[in-house]
Amino acid sequence: MKIILIGFMGAGKTSVGKELARDLKLPFIDCDQEIVNSLELQSVAEVFDLVGEEGFRQAETEVLAEILKENSLVIACGGGVVSDPKNLDLLQGSKSKIIWLNAGFDTISERLTDDTTRPLWRDKEKAKELFMERQPIYKNLASFEIQVDSLRISEVAAVISDRVKGD
Ligand code: S3P
Repeated sequence: MKIILIGFMGAGKTSVGKELARDLKLPFIDCDQEIVNSLELQSVAEVFDLVGEEGFRQAETEVLAEILKENSLVIACGGGVVSDPKNLDLLQGSKSKIIWLNAGFDTISERLTDDTTRPLWRDKEKAKELFMERQPIYKNLASFEIQVDSLRISEVAAVISDRVKGD
């Protein structure tokens, strides 16, 4: 079973992914972490500083293509994975359950109030535009969505776990 978590920054993809992978006894891979590792750097912010968003996106597509070759795992994608049509093709062709963690912009803003690790969160107005642009793309790509605003990480993981076990 291949499970891919998508959604905006701060939706909880990495935290939920780790817990879900534990529940389902599957390996977990975080796309952002793999990108950072592939460039032998320390953080996403450092990648943006050194190679810009363009370099980050290029690495993201390469890393995604590699990760999707694996079969049984849980993958947390970066929120911007949907910004490149190449990634959408890869994801759509991946025979995976693609799950959208849908959080409202207010929830995200609260969660990321003090966040300094995400370069595209620095300008809130641009972030809001990205959010609006991406919502329909997440929706269209997902096998199903979970409204996560009022749920804890463990509750989101449990909902997904039940749902995929039933499939
Ligand atoms: C991005 C989201 C980040 C990370 C990078 C770009 C985006 O991942 O990939 O900062 O474009 O929304 P998270 O969604 O895990 O924060």
